[in-house]
Amino acid sequence: MELIFLKITKAVIPAAGFGTRVLPASKVLPKEMLPLVDKPAIQYIIEEAAASGITDILIITNRGKEIIENHFDKNPDLERNLEKSGKSAMLNAVSLSSNLANLYFIRQKEAKGLGHAISCAKTFVGNEPFAVLYGDDVITGKVPVCKQLIDAFNEYNLCVVGAKQMPEEKIINYGSLKVEPIKENILKCTDMIEKPSKDKIMSLYSILGRCILTPDIFDILSKTLPGHGGEIQLTDAMKVLAQRDGIIVVDFDGKRYDIGNKLGIMQANVEIALNHTEIGKDFKTYLKELCKSL
Ligand code: UTP
Repeated sequence: MELIFLKITKAVIPAAGFGTRVLPASKVLPKEMLPLVDKPAIQYIIEEAAASGITDILIITNRGKEIIENHFDKNPDLERNLEKSGKSAMLNAVSLSSNLANLYFIRQKEAKGLGHAISCAKTFVGNEPFAVLYGDDVITGKVPVCKQLIDAFNEYNLCVVGAKQMPEEKIINYGSLKVEPIKENILKCTDMIEKPSKDKIMSLYSILGRCILTPDIFDILSKTLPGHGGEIQLTDAMKVLAQRDGIIVVDFDGKRYDIGNKLGIMQANVEIALNHTEIGKDFKTYLKELCKSL
């Protein structure tokens, strides 16, 4: 197989889902814009990408998600006002959000599934490997997970997925990977199944929100038929790659929050608040006091 030595600088963030599991909050406000303490969830994801060396990010949106584009635009009036009133910390925070990376937007005209959303990125991606960061998976940790995956791609020159082991009762709602160990936290995946019934579980490893793909995924996606839930599933296309070449699995170092469900949103808020430089100490005191009454 031909070796690819291209630096990964492009990422795709699919954010065009309905967010049904967090309705009614997501009826008007996209779930990706729900605040985790003081930043919308998608900003954590873009910060992770930028800290991993990504310079160009395509966000897949749909009708009603213009607010995402507005959040990452400059707001000169607000910035002038903050400057005049000497609120430099706020000014820095506001201008940071419009300077993280070059952002591009495209609409997925119908929510036909994650695989279909990724296929909307074909022209943007061109002939380069690229990162995918799911718009509703926030992952915190010392080394950005996207960077951990890029490092694995550079080492093995194969597509890479970020994964964690899930409890058996939960994996039936996710995907299951057939894996063999390579070293430490690195495994090779040779097959996968989306939302397996109990007797079809291949391992407890499941893809969680991050992958590095090569452009040949687009050709596979164009031939992928609707799968689970009548949607074009990214895992069905990745399964073809896994069976053909193998996919590298990184059991990543980091804490993942699924902000596509209510419990995940609350867990993210509590844990991010506890580590927050401004409110962390007071929040901890409050939480300890509250816990006494539980
Ligand atoms: P999910 O399946 O978790 O998102 O997709 P969803 O469709 O919004 O979920 P529910 O079931 O309605 O609550 C994972 C990611 O893929 C995006 C979502 O926005 C989410 O970030 N996605 C999903 C798309 O961009 N397009 C789609 O057609 C489906």
